[in-house]
Amino acid sequence: MRRRTVLTAAGAAVAMLALRGAASAQETMKIGLILPMTGSFASTGRQIEAAAKLYMQQSGDTVAGKKIQLIVKDDTGVADVTKRLAQELIVNDKVGVIAGFGLTPLALAPAPLATQAKVPAVVMAAATATITEASPYIVRTSFTLPQATVPMADWASQNGIKKVVTLVSDYGPGIDAEKAFSGAFGAKGGQVESLRVPLANPDFSPFLQKVADAKPDALFVFVPSGVGAQFVERGLDKSGIKLIGPGDVTDDDILNGMGDVALGAITTQHYSAAHDSPENKAFVEAFKKANNGMRPNFMAVGGYDGMHLIYEGLKKTNGAGGEALINAMKGMSWMSPRGPVSIDPQTRDIIQNIYVRKVERVNGELYNVEFATIANVKDPVKAAKSN
Ligand code: DHB
Repeated sequence: MRRRTVLTAAGAAVAMLALRGAASAQETMKIGLILPMTGSFASTGRQIEAAAKLYMQQSGDTVAGKKIQLIVKDDTGVADVTKRLAQELIVNDKVGVIAGFGLTPLALAPAPLATQAKVPAVVMAAATATITEASPYIVRTSFTLPQATVPMADWASQNGIKKVVTLVSDYGPGIDAEKAFSGAFGAKGGQVESLRVPLANPDFSPFLQKVADAKPDALFVFVPSGVGAQFVERGLDKSGIKLIGPGDVTDDDILNGMGDVALGAITTQHYSAAHDSPENKAFVEAFKKANNGMRPNFMAVGGYDGMHLIYEGLKKTNGAGGEALINAMKGMSWMSPRGPVSIDPQTRDIIQNIYVRKVERVNGELYNVEFATIANVKDPVKAAKSN
């Protein structure tokens, strides 16, 4: 009799502990935001962190009864570090979501961990088409290079451009951009010559000499966010050739510092700080106010929308993570500062408008001014596979 009482009391204590554990696990949803905060691609980290924090400031830090805790980690732009940080965040901190991923190799490295742990991974920056195929737990709120590039090829062929040299950073997104452009432009009878520059510390001068010698009608450039200023400084000025490409080269983070040499560049992309909508005006104003006047770029909007996707997903699952959360994100649609967007339920990529833009001076500042819209563009690489 006495023995049974003791056992019952002990059983109750264990049950209480288990309950308390479950309750505290339920109360907090941790999001591990892994970004290059230092190194050559720190501007991507700075923009995304600022946007994620702005989203939380505006939307509160409780969703479906859960307290949202953002844990920001600096991977310094090195893929092995991204992977180690993702492992630590999942195993030690028990995060329910990993997010960020400033470059393609940094998004690919932790993909197997997301799959094993069944933790959704929200890619807010990296843009090589294949990334979402690396794990069924990856969802993307940035873009893909082929998605942004095919409209550029169409515009060029419709606007009297016959011969183009492509110059791209020699890794995933650059190769995607080169292939998408030469495929689509070549199919319309255009002529293309392709050059690739190293990703790390590129010296553009010898490449720009080759471009000048080839005398194309336009130079198509992909360099990752933040690198465009170096490119423009090191000689575009002297080449006198029309600059076209996906919008990374005239990224809003650096555009205003580029000077008149950038004027007239035509690019195609999903986001411009000059996008004319009430949602974007409010976003740009709040972002600048919270960040000493810094202008948001396309990385910021990827971070902001990534947080929105997590919040709305959690509302749908009533706070549950894992497979329920990734499933809740599929097919979700909303009005972003960039325009209307949705998550493709088949590919987990973002479907969005691509805008054709021209660099112009507006009220004394340089902007990518949108002048045409291609609505609801899917990643063309995956669309072609599913046909
Ligand atoms: C990637 C990085 C960028 O900074 C960018 O503008 C586009 C793509 C990438 O590594 O995937």
